[in-house]
Amino acid sequence: MKTYKIAILAGDGIGPEIMREAIKVFKLVEERNAVRFELLEAAFGGQAYFETGHPFPEETKAICDAADAIIKGPIGLSHEESQKIPVDMQPERGALLPLRARFNTYANFRPVYLPKAIASFSPLKPEIVGEGIDIIMVRELVGGLYFGHKETGVNEQGQRYVKEVLEYDEGQIRQILHEGFKLANRRKKVLHNIHKSNVLKSSVLWNEIVAELAPQYPDVKVVHMLVDAAATHLCLNPTQFDVMVMENMFGDILSDQGGGILGSLGLMPSACMGAEKAYYEPSHGSAPDIAGKNIANPYSMIGSVAMMLEMSFGMEEEAKNVWAAMQGVFADGYSTPDLSRGGADVQLISTDAFGDKVVEKLRAMPVPGN
Ligand code: NAD
Ligand code: IPM
Ligand code: MN
Repeated sequence: MKTYKIAILAGDGIGPEIMREAIKVFKLVEERNAVRFELLEAAFGGQAYFETGHPFPEETKAICDAADAIIKGPIGLSHEESQKIPVDMQPERGALLPLRARFNTYANFRPVYLPKAIASFSPLKPEIVGEGIDIIMVRELVGGLYFGHKETGVNEQGQRYVKEVLEYDEGQIRQILHEGFKLANRRKKVLHNIHKSNVLKSSVLWNEIVAELAPQYPDVKVVHMLVDAAATHLCLNPTQFDVMVMENMFGDILSDQGGGILGSLGLMPSACMGAEKAYYEPSHGSAPDIAGKNIANPYSMIGSVAMMLEMSFGMEEEAKNVWAAMQGVFADGYSTPDLSRGGADVQLISTDAFGDKVVEKLRAMPVPGN
């Protein structure tokens, strides 16, 4: 029997609520398959700072180091709560970026997926959503402005100034572009390369490397698109996209727009892959506006479980079952309130009820390999 150690970092805000539902899914998957999950919960984020004095405590680092994979809920505090923490100890800078750096999780896969059956959740018109949206955004996750040199001070004119450097070397660019090309090759063989080479030198180098790698993927058609134009195309014609590849900051912004065109960030899971370790997290934040109300959508968290099953443990069939179970809950006419806009004909259910229904659906599905 295979046993995997999984670090569970529930995080802040809605994190613990949606993680509870993800854990229900891990438990059922374990029950149904010849696999054991050792679930190791650890403190991470703003709450961890208040409890232990650090948002990424040493004990949590040790648990993550020893884990086969990590699943993480969102971290972060409301603007007011954040002010109570020194800037470098705030959970984004003090925990999340260090987690990404520690395991060099350079490739972030963010599916923007809305099958036709649930197209009514999208704020876009039906004729724009067409047969559904099925995009994977591939975001570079450990470089660029996020990790470049930073400096603040007072300049010679007595003005406060800030300097943040957008840095990439060719190796970093090459490895993320390979991920984009490989994924495009496995899917529809179209890769949208998102850049800003009309202004940024980083994009000029990026595009040079695209041109160097393209001959290794002769079946993949590369479509170049400026990032600002891509934002418009995502609204007006999202179905033209299949795989999109981009640097860190572009990916942060466009992936949240991805959540927007689906109808909620609650539909956005993700996988953050390094050469040796991967961690999985919703793309969204801790949603302080709805925390503690049992109304958050756990799809993003449960979808992150499905991505872990597939990408870390090779359990493709069971991962598909988890996705199908979630779609099945929508097909039965249920959803959490985030997706109810526009008078869509849905019965609203709570976070835990959604998780329970997913579990019920999954339980009823044939076990893979049986
Ligand atoms: P957010 O993503 O938390 O929320 C934006 C909007 O989306 C809110 O209206 C929220 O209610 C809604 N939303 C998000 N997830 C949802 C879900 N699962 N179900 C239903 N509705 C959902 O963005 P924000 O408010 O700008 O940020 C809050 C905090 O989260 C900040 O501290 C930010 O730094 C942090 N953050 C963390 C991560 C992460 O851990 N990876 C990602 C993004 C933001
Ligand atoms: C995300 C988040 C993070 C990012 C923040 C919280 C550091 O917005 O995962 O998209 O900007 O990468
Ligand atoms: Mn973001």
